[in-house]
Amino acid sequence: MTQVNDFSTLPIDLHFDALPAHVAVIMDGNGRWATQRGLPRVAGHRQGAKTVKDLLRCCKDWGIGALTVYAFSTENWRRPMEEVGFLLRLFDRLLRREMVEMQREGVQIRFLGDLSPLPDRLQDLMQEAMAATRHNQRVQFNVAVNYGGRQELVAATRHIAQQVSCGALSLDQIDEETLSRALLTHPLPDPDLLIRTSGEQRLSNFLPWQLAYTELYFTDLLWPEFDRAAFYQALRWYQGRQRRFGGLVAAPIAQGL
Ligand code: FPP
Repeated sequence: MTQVNDFSTLPIDLHFDALPAHVAVIMDGNGRWATQRGLPRVAGHRQGAKTVKDLLRCCKDWGIGALTVYAFSTENWRRPMEEVGFLLRLFDRLLRREMVEMQREGVQIRFLGDLSPLPDRLQDLMQEAMAATRHNQRVQFNVAVNYGGRQELVAATRHIAQQVSCGALSLDQIDEETLSRALLTHPLPDPDLLIRTSGEQRLSNFLPWQLAYTELYFTDLLWPEFDRAAFYQALRWYQGRQRRFGGLVAAPIAQGL
């Protein structure tokens, strides 16, 4: 078992104590990256998958406990059939290929979203991967697949309403914690940092509840270009931010920057 972090690779000007505990990412720009190089769009997804793997390893090495990526939204079904098919096959292939390494590196994988429209074989693989890695603790890797934030909130509301209607919960017991507990990300803390690549500055229905107080970082880099150096830049930026959570006074996340 090599379930170890490699803190020695943490750049010296990043403060270990002030790293985000949970990073969320909207991986955008795969198609443009490929088109710019005269390649089919799917080549961008293939390259993008390598970028995710590097980022996950970086989180593990540097002691960032959770990474949540938006891999396939409820709207992505509208893409050409060939591209959707390619993405589903890519998830399938990656899961088979990376399982041993995920186990070795202490990755706990979870899929967030409605998996029911996915091919049965892929659903089985996803369930198996979640079950097999559920005790790993080095880094939690959440992959949002067929995920939509509003749909998640509707499902949570239904769940709470059901508890009220069967008497397990009273109306005045409902608070923010009740809703947080009914979301797919439970029991993780909300993301501290959201990264979106490719110059777009929207949330696109990604974790609308959980991102309420999150620092939002936008970069023009396309997702396949987002390497360790780019992640370092995002973390430097994050550590210089002041988080006030609605109050007036706050220190920079990392003092002395
Ligand atoms: C957005 O770029 C990217 C996606 C919708 C797919 C993301 C999937 C991967 C990176 C593959 C593997 C991921 C995991 C976690 C196994 P885009 O196609 O919208 O790019 P564009 O805006 O340039 O068209």
